Amino acid sequence: MSWNDALVAIQRRTDLIPTVGVVLGSGLGAFADELTDRIEIPYEDIPGWPRSTAVGHAGHLVLGKINHTVVAVQAGRAHFYEGYDIGQVTFGVRVLGKLGIKSLILTNAAGGINLEYTQGALVLINDHINLQGQNPLIGPNDDSLGPRFPDMSDAYSKDYRALAKHVAREMGSSFSEGVYAGLLGPNYETPAEIRYLRAIGADLVGMSTVPEVIVARHMGVKCLAISCVTNMAAGILNQEINHQEVLETGAKVRGTLVEMLKRIIPHLETQP
Ligand code: HPA
Repeated sequence: MSWNDALVAIQRRTDLIPTVGVVLGSGLGAFADELTDRIEIPYEDIPGWPRSTAVGHAGHLVLGKINHTVVAVQAGRAHFYEGYDIGQVTFGVRVLGKLGIKSLILTNAAGGINLEYTQGALVLINDHINLQGQNPLIGPNDDSLGPRFPDMSDAYSKDYRALAKHVAREMGSSFSEGVYAGLLGPNYETPAEIRYLRAIGADLVGMSTVPEVIVARHMGVKCLAISCVTNMAAGILNQEINHQEVLETGAKVRGTLVEMLKRIIPHLETQP
């Protein structure tokens, strides 16, 4: 794995050393524009970095600042359904970890399984169920990165969730929490699969995030993940799910999400 070549390519372009990483999901890329002292590096300029082929995903790494915090933003992520292998899907998070991030914020578009959610809701992921049949840690363990058997009991940091809720309250808003089921995709689920997911305790369903969080936790990076409920999951409403709707809902909440991230990030470093 050529993380080192990627690191060198990034460090050749900037002296900024990020402490916070952000991975932006479908239709949620606008946040990268908020960084000051910004530098954009197209993924194709970084050796080994997979390009995003999904519609609604940009393809560059942006480094810059939110107040005084140096942030690295992946505007566009790689998914399994694009044909990448597990090492490629998690490559970006590994590189950000090597660059020095201590915190990772992930956003994604998700289907709402919990009937209390409404379309457009922003939900804090408090746990996940890995149904991708894959694991990025399979193979010899690199002890310099993290332990062979990493703990996942606080994968979605309780402290960060409390911080995010505090910020939402300040904005006159609020967050629900929920369990995210990560599936491979790319088809949306069947109604029977959604009933199954609800029965096993999932509130949200999506096609990303889980491998990235596993890799981040392996390296001891703390995670905050926010799902945008872009649609109610299959079979809940009497209508089909389509990618256009997913992108349109993402676009509607983008402003709120950007403001939340701007307010959350400066406080991440002061968390225990
Ligand atoms: N299922 C899986 N992934 C998704 C969905 C969904 O309903 N909506 C957005 N991403």
